[in-house]
Amino acid sequence: MRLDIELFGARFQNPVLLAAGTCGFGQEVAEVVDLEKLGGLVTKSVTIEPRNGNPAPRVTEFAGGMLNSVGLANPGLAAARRDKLPWLAAHVVKARVFVSLAGHTIEDYFRLVEGLDGDAGFLGFELNLSCPNDAKRGGPPFALDSAALAEIVSGCRARTQRPLLAKLAPNDPDLGKTVRTATDAGADGLTLVNTIPGLLLRAGSGEPELGAGPGGVSGPALLPVGLRAVREAREHTRLPLLGVGGVLAPADAVAYARAGAALVQVGTASFAAPRAGEHLVRGLERWGRARGVAAWGEIVRGLAA
Ligand SMILES: Cc1cc2nc3c(=O)[nH]c(=O)nc-3n(C[C@H](O)[C@H](O)[C@H](O)COP(=O)(O)O)c2cc1C
Repeated sequence: MRLDIELFGARFQNPVLLAAGTCGFGQEVAEVVDLEKLGGLVTKSVTIEPRNGNPAPRVTEFAGGMLNSVGLANPGLAAARRDKLPWLAAHVVKARVFVSLAGHTIEDYFRLVEGLDGDAGFLGFELNLSCPNDAKRGGPPFALDSAALAEIVSGCRARTQRPLLAKLAPNDPDLGKTVRTATDAGADGLTLVNTIPGLLLRAGSGEPELGAGPGGVSGPALLPVGLRAVREAREHTRLPLLGVGGVLAPADAVAYARAGAALVQVGTASFAAPRAGEHLVRGLERWGRARGVAAWGEIVRGLAA
């Protein structure tokens, strides 16, 4: 099966990207993962200032996946430009890079786009509008506030010609409206979904397992949540969709394509097996060969011409 696909004015050699926050800025995993075999990667979310993130422990496991409260730990805008983007520009050529951005104010997103737009090393931006673990910001994420969502996406749109993805939340009571808002504000694609808020308690003490208390659920438990979100989004926009949540096996990626995603992202699966993304690419080739499917694009529902 041919896995390459044209989107956002670029060719993706296959539809498998590493999800934001699960591969650093590429360099951190490059000794183990052959990034150039992937469709692409999304960086850790960058904020204006460096952030240490939330108190440890930040990650724990349960039968259905992972709960994390990393809290957007990242080196900040200046260090990302100085140390991270030059490495990506030099080492990641065939795989497409999106830089993920996170702010605790609307203006933060504008400053981040303005600060990074002139640099080399990446194709576009993914706006993280849906992090459940931003203690500094507090309150619901921007993706659940239509007015803020519209202002951020349209303001970023006005500041860059690069492809702009909006990453949305799974716990959205009116996802269709959110999808239409992001579309009308000028996004080029939508990423669904971020982690869903959750809590795990220690069996003995009843204390939260994570240092910050609650966190975001990812992994297999998120697969049906992400699929539902992608299918619903498909009904409300013609934009390309990126499906994320619980992707591990070829069948998971194919399910996202059938729901309407043109690309998929792999997050938690890489923690158990760092080369999960590469395995998925090979698995998809085998999946198509075994079924006589000629091209990935054939199974993507609603793919705009
Ligand atoms: C440890 C960890 C850190 C994450 N950091 C980010 C982040 O910085 N920005 C972001 O948009 N999503 C972040 N995510 C969410 C993932 O990109 C993805 O949306 C989510 O984990 C669901 O995919 P999965 O089930 O394949 O892990 C993080 C997830 C995990 C597990």
